Amino acid sequence: MFRINDQDRPSDSHCRWFPGYPSQVAAARWFVIDRLHGCSRADDASLLASELATNAIRHTRSRRWRTGFLLTVDHTPGLRLRVTVRDAGALETDKKPCATLPAPDALHGRGLFLVNSIASRWGTRREHLGRKTWFELDCHR
Ligand SMILES: Nc1ncnc2c1ncn2[C@@H]1O[C@H](COP(=O)(O)OP(=O)(O)O)[C@@H](O)[C@H]1O
Ligand SMILES: [Mg+2]
Repeated sequence: MFRINDQDRPSDSHCRWFPGYPSQVAAARWFVIDRLHGCSRADDASLLASELATNAIRHTRSRRWRTGFLLTVDHTPGLRLRVTVRDAGALETDKKPCATLPAPDALHGRGLFLVNSIASRWGTRREHLGRKTWFELDCHR
């Protein structure tokens, strides 16, 4: 899809559904790299998208093969990109996820800390059928 953004710059948007299976996290990384070909922040976007996709598979009902998660990449070259992951809702009580730095010897808990450290902006919001988590990166191409 091609559209005009708030600064009258053309931007493109790509969306794909991924089955809820751990190997699909790698497929999501490839999708982001592919759709952001030529963008200065493609590698950062892929790394952070990987964390959001992993969270969808690990912490939500998106872990079911048939449910999966939806990933969207919006890119305005030379300005910014946004990656959004929509999941199918928390497995248990849905507390708002937050970024905290765990102890150095903790095995988990660094995904959203990474997102918070690298992204220019990020956020998460409950939606009708699950949760939407997104981040933005400024880019110069
Ligand atoms: N999409 C999500 N839906 C519900 N909870 C989430 C989601 N993403 C993250 N969380 C919660 O936020 C916590 C922190 O996430 P993260 O920093 O990626 O660490 P980790 O996934 O290793 O636990 C998770 O342990 C989980 O409780
Ligand atoms: Mg995580």
